[in-house]
Amino acid sequence: MRNPNATSALVATLGLALALAGCPKRDDGAKPEPSADAGTAATPPPVVKEAPADAARGEKLVGQFECNRCHTGAGGAHATQSKDCVGCHADIIAGRFEAPPASIAKWTPRVKDLQYAPTLTSLGKRVTRRFVEDFLRLPLDQRPHLAQSMPRLALSAADARDLAAHLVPDGDETSESSVATAPELASADLGKGRRVLETKGCGSCHAFTGVAPIAASSPPAMAPKDFARAHALAPDLRTTRARTTPAKLVAWLRDPQAVKSDTSMPKIALTAAEIRDVAAYLLSAELAPPTAKTKAARLPVLTRKVTFAEVDEKVFHRTCWHCHSEPDFAIGDGGPGNSGGYGFKPRGLNLSSYQGIAAGYVDDAGERTSIFLKDEETGTPRIVRALLARHDEEDGRETGAVRGMPLGYPALSSEEIQLVESWVAQGRPR
Ligand code: HEC
Ligand code: HEC
Ligand code: HEC
Ligand code: HEC
Repeated sequence: MRNPNATSALVATLGLALALAGCPKRDDGAKPEPSADAGTAATPPPVVKEAPADAARGEKLVGQFECNRCHTGAGGAHATQSKDCVGCHADIIAGRFEAPPASIAKWTPRVKDLQYAPTLTSLGKRVTRRFVEDFLRLPLDQRPHLAQSMPRLALSAADARDLAAHLVPDGDETSESSVATAPELASADLGKGRRVLETKGCGSCHAFTGVAPIAASSPPAMAPKDFARAHALAPDLRTTRARTTPAKLVAWLRDPQAVKSDTSMPKIALTAAEIRDVAAYLLSAELAPPTAKTKAARLPVLTRKVTFAEVDEKVFHRTCWHCHSEPDFAIGDGGPGNSGGYGFKPRGLNLSSYQGIAAGYVDDAGERTSIFLKDEETGTPRIVRALLARHDEEDGRETGAVRGMPLGYPALSSEEIQLVESWVAQGRPR
């Protein structure tokens, strides 16, 4: 992944190393000569000046991109219930939402995919700024028990940099510190570290892909509701080395609540030696390469007739409509995909009616454009490309100019995409 800060840090470090390498010469008492040689050796290659990170701007961006519709802990006011994606869905599931019981029963299975998001409270004490910046630019699926629901937002490199500076106020030079030299991990025993994971119940919440599976033995005593949340939000421990530093990791394992007051990971009694050993294992156990994800199958178009009523029921009115609806009907908010939101400009795409779908969306040039327009190279309609791109996003791939749909929601199945594609291929009958 491209990381401009890392590159400039590397350039700066190299420059420093070269400058230091020139020093011992001065020890022989000779007057340092401003020789041409020394001059070139000590001059680092020209550095493209990066604008420094602007945390104050990052704080404002939290409001602009509406991070608080899903997260708490990023600063700023939390979204009201009518805008709070995660909060409203969680309220429905918990019975805190005012609606007839029959509606709640119908909705509950529909809202479960977006009922949890990690809080961002004291993020800087837990992870590195570099991790946050990279994650914002390309959100990865870190939590195997949670749908991959952090959306790919329209953030520029500078936006990601500034948001990361706001969320992780102290820069983290220490992220470069190597596991081998970290004083916190001196004389750690990886075998014992592995046994801590196996015997202290870590596997009841965490997966650790790339090492032999950790049994889910001895889960901590917790209320089922709290356990469900903790289980859903527990990251794959494979990600730990990309997220954090040895010092931050050790502090976390010693007392998660002391680092992050609202965390749902319980404090597990561990000795200092156990913490050292398990931290070393998390950061340096040898990992098998990630299992290659199989691409979703692209099914041939159906020969039977597909009507709008069927596609509408199974796709548009089930999933898409929620973000692409009729603003008049939905109290002025047509959802992020229609009237704008999450920092997206209003695209005017209303997927709640046949006419709305036919009217298309407002493209970057401000022109109304059909969502059925075929890609010149592959002949695939825009809407189908968006549906396919969501599979790529879930697998961590870049998707270029196409944003995956449904945005930040589980990808449609191959059969559902086939249905949409068949309907388009048949001339979109009513
Ligand atoms: C639609 C809901 C939603 C919105 C809007 C959203 N996020 Fe997230 N975010 C999530 C979810 C869900 C996750 C967990 C994803 C995972 O780890 O697999 C997440 C993860 C994160 C993480 C990683 C945290 C961790 O501990 O792993 C960061 C950082 C983050 N989001 C920052 C932001 C910022 C900054 C914004 C606004 C610019 C934002 N998010 C907007 C839902 C959202
Ligand atoms: C005021 C409460 C509320 C808010 C706020 C809310 N939702 Fe929902 N959401 C619901 C309900 C209720 C349903 C089920 C609707 C149905 O079944 O017809 C739903 C369903 C959905 C679905 C369809 C899921 C499926 O089955 O395919 C998606 C997608 C969705 N919500 C995303 C979001 C996003 C993203 C946000 C924030 C931008 C959001 N919701 C905000 C109440 C809410
Ligand atoms: C009851 C479930 C649960 C158990 C048991 C559990 N964890 Fe966690 N763990 C979590 C959750 C949830 C998070 C995410 C914390 C957050 O964002 O608030 C987490 C986070 C972590 C992190 C990452 C911190 C970060 O932000 O990068 C590490 C490392 C970790 N756990 C290790 C362990 C180890 C080692 C054990 C066993 C000694 C363990 N966990 C036991 C739920 C659990
Ligand atoms: C969580 C909210 C959300 C859901 C659910 C959602 N969309 Fe979107 N959609 C958006 C946003 C936001 C945009 C604007 C993206 C942009 O400006 O880059 C958008 C844009 C689009 C576009 C526009 C053009 C383009 O850039 O490709 C298409 C097509 C689209 N959505 C189709 C769908 C379909 C089909 C579904 C249901 C399977 C769906 N969307 C579900 C939020 C959503």
